[in-house]
Amino acid sequence: MKTNCFFYRKKKYSINPNGVVTSKSHSNIALIKYWGKHNNKTQIPLNSSISYSLGEVYTVTRLIYQKKKERNLPIKVFFSGKEKTSFLPKILEFFHRISSYCSYLQDFNFIIETYNTFPHSSGIASSASSMSSLALCIMEIEKKLVSSSKEDFFLKKSSFLARLGSGSACRSIYPGLVVWGCHKSIKGSNNLYAIPYPYEVHSIFTKIEDTILIIDDEPKKILSSKGHQLMNDHPFARERFKCATQNMSRLISILKIGDFQEFGELIEHEALTLHAMIMTSRPYFLCMKPNTLNVIYTVWDFRKQNKKNIYFTLDAGANVHLLYPIQEKTFILKWIYSDLFVYSKKIIESFCL
Ligand code: DP6
Repeated sequence: MKTNCFFYRKKKYSINPNGVVTSKSHSNIALIKYWGKHNNKTQIPLNSSISYSLGEVYTVTRLIYQKKKERNLPIKVFFSGKEKTSFLPKILEFFHRISSYCSYLQDFNFIIETYNTFPHSSGIASSASSMSSLALCIMEIEKKLVSSSKEDFFLKKSSFLARLGSGSACRSIYPGLVVWGCHKSIKGSNNLYAIPYPYEVHSIFTKIEDTILIIDDEPKKILSSKGHQLMNDHPFARERFKCATQNMSRLISILKIGDFQEFGELIEHEALTLHAMIMTSRPYFLCMKPNTLNVIYTVWDFRKQNKKNIYFTLDAGANVHLLYPIQEKTFILKWIYSDLFVYSKKIIESFCL
């Protein structure tokens, strides 16, 4: 089942010539990071990753399809009500990559209307929620064509298609902890689509807050696709992939036992390793800003003084995600607003789904 062939839809089906489908998909934050892939087109990761899908930060997409008329532009994109031609190249590339798995798409023109509940390109994974929500819309169309399509297949293929749009997007199809990429200790894990984390999880990890500090709301300086590419001849790449695989094995037992301190140290190590890779690639980049470091040092001091369970993780940007158990929310959130607001442009209160 874990081959591309499983997802082909070559046959032609009949469908109403016009229609609308909608979907909503949440962003996710990786605990073990995906950074490095075999090549940009096939989107096969070089290590397995795991993320939490996030509440309150999501993309809503409305996909309008119309039977193709000659000389029409195949796709128009509207973001928050405004036409966005700058999104077209990525979306056209996505439609091209999935065309052999969804051959019915060639019969239609599309209008994509989409919006996020968070700032676009702010370091919150907007490509994850937008690509997964678009993949879900496409699968809604497929569902109309093939009414026998089962829920399990629907989700797997949605994740498979989302991956071809953006790697981390394949994890956004599911709530909770989600794994993508083959890992020998995780049953069912594979490189083609994500799966819900299949093992026991201690109750402390089922209700986690994620408060996101927006340090920089400008578009990212390094695009993920470029960063992944730079791992291909990165001097530390081999060690990084080994380390990610070991961290995943450690995380399996941490999640079971419920050791929050171990969990926190592991996610901070992952975040700093990601940035270490970015800082030591050629060309090199520095995504953290002075206020990213101010937040990190302040969190470390606070933890030492108050013995509280609060740990950070980062994406390939300057913003900081602070993870802590819901039981400690009242005290910690009050402290975040009093001591960390000064370093942030905006605070987004989210939680792990
Ligand atoms: C640092 O999924 O954005 O957020 O596959 O090229 O679209 P593409 O990359 P993308 O990379 C995400 C990188 C990360 C880590 C992660 O989410 O695992």
